Amino acid sequence: MFKKTIITSGPTLEPIDPVRFISNRSSGKTGYHLATEARNRGIGEIVFISGPTCFLPDGVHIVKVETAREMYDAVNEHFDQCAVTIMAAAVSDYRSAEYHPQKMKKDHDTLILELAKNPDILSELGRRKRPGQILVGFAAESEDIFVNAEKKLVSKNLDLLVLNEISARNPAFGCEENQVYFLRSAGINKIEKTSKAAIAALVWDEIFALFHDPASGQRNR
Ligand code: CTP
Repeated sequence: MFKKTIITSGPTLEPIDPVRFISNRSSGKTGYHLATEARNRGIGEIVFISGPTCFLPDGVHIVKVETAREMYDAVNEHFDQCAVTIMAAAVSDYRSAEYHPQKMKKDHDTLILELAKNPDILSELGRRKRPGQILVGFAAESEDIFVNAEKKLVSKNLDLLVLNEISARNPAFGCEENQVYFLRSAGINKIEKTSKAAIAALVWDEIFALFHDPASGQRNR
C-alpha cells in the first residue's frame, strides 16, 4: 500500500517582484544526504521535492519547486502512498501578501511589506497520517530549544524530530557538519557534532528501528 518515500529539501523562495524574494539560509545539504543514504540502502521510489538548491541527488525522482505553496501541492500529490515522509526543507513561514508584477521602485524612505502566512505542510501531514506511515520533521531553534522542539513533536504528530540548535557554536545552515538531537516520544538523544552525511545515516537507522518496532518510539513508563 505504501510504496514511496518523500524527502523535502532546501529553502523555499517567495517572490516579491520579478527580482526580489524572501528566503532563508538552507543549503539543501541535509536533504541531499538523506536522499543519497536512502538510495544507497536500496529504498524503493524516492520522491525528492526540493526548493532552489544546487544539491540534487542522483537516482531519485526529483520534483523542483520554488514556493511553499508549490511544495505543499507536490507533497500532497504523493503523501498518501508514502511509508516515510521526511520534511527536511526549510519552508518559508511567510510570503509577500502581494506579488508586484513590475519591479518595485525606491520611491519612499521606508517600505512596509505585508506578509501572508504559508501553509504548515508538516502540521497538515501530521493530521492526515495513517497507521504505518512514518513522519519525520526538523526543527531549527535558537532559544528554549527542548521546550519548543517537544511542542513541535507533539503538535505536528511526528514519529521523529531532528532538532538543530542554532547558535554561534553551531550555525547549522550551510555547514558541512552539524550537532543535533533526535526527539521521539521515548526521549531525547544527543548526536555529537558530525558530518551531515553521518547524521543522515543515523536518521535512517532511527526510521528503520521505528519500522521494525513501532513501540521503540514510545516513552518507557
Ligand atoms: N514546516 C512546514 N511548513 C511550514 C513551516 C515548516 O512543513 N510552513 C516544517 C519544516 O520542514 C520542518 C518543521 O516544519 O520539518 C519545523 O520547521 P521550523 O521552521 O523549525 O518550525 P515552524 O513550524 O516553522 O515554527 P517556528 O518557525 O515558529 O519555530
